[in-house]
Amino acid sequence: DPRFQPLLEKLQGNILKSHGRDYAMHSFFRFRGDPAAARRLVAELTRRYVTSAAEQEQQIARFKAGHEQELFGALMLSAKGMKLLGLTLPAGFGEATLQPATSAPVSFANPMKDAAAVFADQPDQWDAGYRGGDIDGMLLLAMGHAEEPYDADAIPTALLDAAKDANALIDGAAEVVAFEIGQQQRRGDDAVEHFGFIDGISQPALVTSDLPPPQDRTENDPSAGLALALLRDPFVRDDDACGSFFVFRKLEQNVRLFRDEEARLAAALGGIPRDQAGAMMVGRFQDGTPTVLAGAPSGASPPVNNFSYAVDPGTPPAFPAKCPFHAHIRKTNPRGDIGRQFGGGAAVDENERQRRVVRRGITYGSRDNDLGDAPSGGVGLLFQCYQSSIPDQFAFMQNSWANNEDFVRPGGSGHDSIIGQGPRGVEQTWPGPWGSNATRKLPGQRQLVTDKGGEFFWTPSMPFLQSLTATA
Ligand code: HEM
Repeated sequence: DPRFQPLLEKLQGNILKSHGRDYAMHSFFRFRGDPAAARRLVAELTRRYVTSAAEQEQQIARFKAGHEQELFGALMLSAKGMKLLGLTLPAGFGEATLQPATSAPVSFANPMKDAAAVFADQPDQWDAGYRGGDIDGMLLLAMGHAEEPYDADAIPTALLDAAKDANALIDGAAEVVAFEIGQQQRRGDDAVEHFGFIDGISQPALVTSDLPPPQDRTENDPSAGLALALLRDPFVRDDDACGSFFVFRKLEQNVRLFRDEEARLAAALGGIPRDQAGAMMVGRFQDGTPTVLAGAPSGASPPVNNFSYAVDPGTPPAFPAKCPFHAHIRKTNPRGDIGRQFGGGAAVDENERQRRVVRRGITYGSRDNDLGDAPSGGVGLLFQCYQSSIPDQFAFMQNSWANNEDFVRPGGSGHDSIIGQGPRGVEQTWPGPWGSNATRKLPGQRQLVTDKGGEFFWTPSMPFLQSLTATA
């Protein structure tokens, strides 16, 4: 759509469309304190590496025409980093505007560490570089595309070299305090996370060409209205200030414990197949089929995303028969559950849709190529998401939905089976057996994912970053 062209030239890449690379380097840095040197550094990083959304489109076109994946770069700044550079966002920009709000205030102005109580994080157990809560920026460099047979460890040399050069450059005016290598795990062509499930299926559609045709949309289609939710002011405020808030979290996955929980659950629910137990924790089977839509994996490709939980109503006093309220994807995108459970109609559904985030995470850590091993640490997800407001979206999702044992319904919803953090105070209600109206209450599952650190960032526009060149 040509109307988008001026915007694409000003917006960084990876926001509207994923950079799509299978390998990504993340350099987290802290300025040494000299504002002029910091400005020169950011200007130089921008000149060398940062890819606009328009340039990303051209890279995609060249890739489709048979070229190698080229180097992609993005640059994010924390509130602390912006302050040292003398850059400010307009007052109130990115603060919470939606009601209800998170149980305690979360603000972009403060580091993620300060929100530890809200997320039930334990920053004293974070990796050292994140613990100080004093990161100023992050450079993302990404490259490479999976070839068969896929080897997650085959990081392109050109990418490693680029990251080495970038880190050496950063090392002048700043210090690299954390460095993360993302290596996308794959099963065949599918991008999977370490528990073995296809990931990245459900995303809000931001550009018109990504919206499904009207006849394919349902009332609770996650795509309908999302362009509005995310492109509304202040996501794109005016041309030069356009950008997006960005959340990074390093989430370690205990694969051994996941398998253990899956087996225990399968036994506790009367000896159901193990993959069905795992599917109920996620809300989809490993191949992406939503549990509410299938009795057995259907293997539709791409996996179905246009569905609502109305087909598995769980109207009080019954609980859902196929997808428990605490399944990961039902917690993080309830698709009309709030309205259905408590009334409120369209306004409630609209509020729910405005909580959506654009997920751009990548797996980290080495595994057997067939993912047959079961590591208890050292692997996980470099969770990354874009949004118009951190308190309204990511923070609300983690705090008020995933960690909240009373969401969506008090008395047995429990915490999110995959990402829930905090005390396991209530029992979780499962369909027992699967597909029946009978329910089985079981003690809250053990925590399978541990946060190892993270930060809140703003992803500035190209003109915003380039203005530093003029003043550096
Ligand atoms: C969807 C895994 C962390 C939010 C999914 C899916 C999987 C998954 C397998 C289904 C694929 C899809 O629908 O795209 C994980 C794992 C995580 C993790 C293993 C941690 C290691 C998070 C976090 C959040 C989050 C921290 C936000 C707080 C979502 C959302 C969806 C999703 C919004 C889409 C739900 C929908 O629209 O139906 N995740 N996730 N995830 N996840 Fe996660």
